[in-house]
Amino acid sequence: METKKVAIVGASGYAGMEAVKLGLSHPGIELVACASRNNAGHPLSKLFGPNAPDMEFCATDSADVKSAEVIFSCLPHCASAKRVKEWHGEGKMVIDLSADFRLKSASVFKEWYGKEHEVPELLGPTVYGLPEINRYKIKEARIIAVPGCYPTATVLGLLPAIKNEMVEPAVIANAVTGVSGAGRQASEAFSFCEVNESMKGYGAPTHRHTPEMEEVLSGFSGVKIKVSFVPHLGSFNRGIYATLYGKMENTFSQEDMEEAYKEFYKDEPFVTVCDENPKLSDVQGTNHCHIKPIVDERTGQLIIFSAIDNLLKGAAGQAVQCFNIRFGFAETAGL
Ligand SMILES: NC(=O)c1ccc[n+]([C@@H]2O[C@H](COP(=O)([O-])OP(=O)(O)OC[C@H]3O[C@@H](n4cnc5c(N)ncnc54)[C@H](OP(=O)(O)O)[C@@H]3O)[C@@H](O)[C@H]2O)c1
Repeated sequence: METKKVAIVGASGYAGMEAVKLGLSHPGIELVACASRNNAGHPLSKLFGPNAPDMEFCATDSADVKSAEVIFSCLPHCASAKRVKEWHGEGKMVIDLSADFRLKSASVFKEWYGKEHEVPELLGPTVYGLPEINRYKIKEARIIAVPGCYPTATVLGLLPAIKNEMVEPAVIANAVTGVSGAGRQASEAFSFCEVNESMKGYGAPTHRHTPEMEEVLSGFSGVKIKVSFVPHLGSFNRGIYATLYGKMENTFSQEDMEEAYKEFYKDEPFVTVCDENPKLSDVQGTNHCHIKPIVDERTGQLIIFSAIDNLLKGAAGQAVQCFNIRFGFAETAGL
């Protein structure tokens, strides 16, 4: 397979740094640019340590970025959209890790993000980069919107039950993120003393990942799905641990449910339906999602645990998985 020239923009952020690390060891990626406004001209070793390759961060509009065939945009939402349009116009393939192109409707974007979408014309052509549901569309995509970390854990946990109409179309997603979920930005709420040995709920019931979860689950199942989403900030660096609840439509045994889940994900290289309850430390540093459905026969509830690494399966790893599918590499290459 032909190696692709790749630029990572926003390379000094948490998601961008993971993308750089994956890019450096990927057999099909020639990393031509690592762009950051604040680190341009500094060696990569400033952020990646003394073993980093002898390469400098560049400016986001440098010739190195222009020389790339593929851009991984790891910029914050609303900073990414216009740049994606520019790169798309230059004929580059763009894999966008921000939230700017995940929703299909500009009005829904405005409702949840509080701003007019700057490039609404590209929402339609963008492919949502969740390989487990969109593998065939990803193969043809010119712009891929990599799903959010909470939506990845939640959607993967719920898909089999929702697709097989085993739960009612109103579900609850209760999830805890590690502190890296907020990015590198320094702010009091994410400082060590505020977070360490503690936990805090936030964002309910209007967290911005809610419409993304609802849109994907509804689009995939053909039924309007409502999600009550309750995020929490936990006292760990990386990972998402989601506990999901759905009222069962019928009586299902634990065996029925496990069989349905294992059948649904039997060909997926990065989703494992576990026999034991997932543990965050098993997925941290990997592109894997570990899932366990549990039937509570007494209450008629289905409970599902779903765990991922927010920076890998929830961001840069999933972006590389999409890159692999798009350019015909083994889906697990570099992962
Ligand atoms: N963290 C996660 O768990 C996670 C998961 C899934 C998706 N994402 C998404 O991935 C993107 C990056 O997230 P992150 O957590 O890596 O954030 P981050 O750590 O804050 O990094 C943001 C990066 O963008 C650059 N940047 C910031 N503001 C910019 C602007 N206005 N214009 C151009 N560059 C700007 C920053 O470096 P300079 O200021 O030096 O340019 C930095 O490299 C976000 O859209 C986020 O929603 C993050």
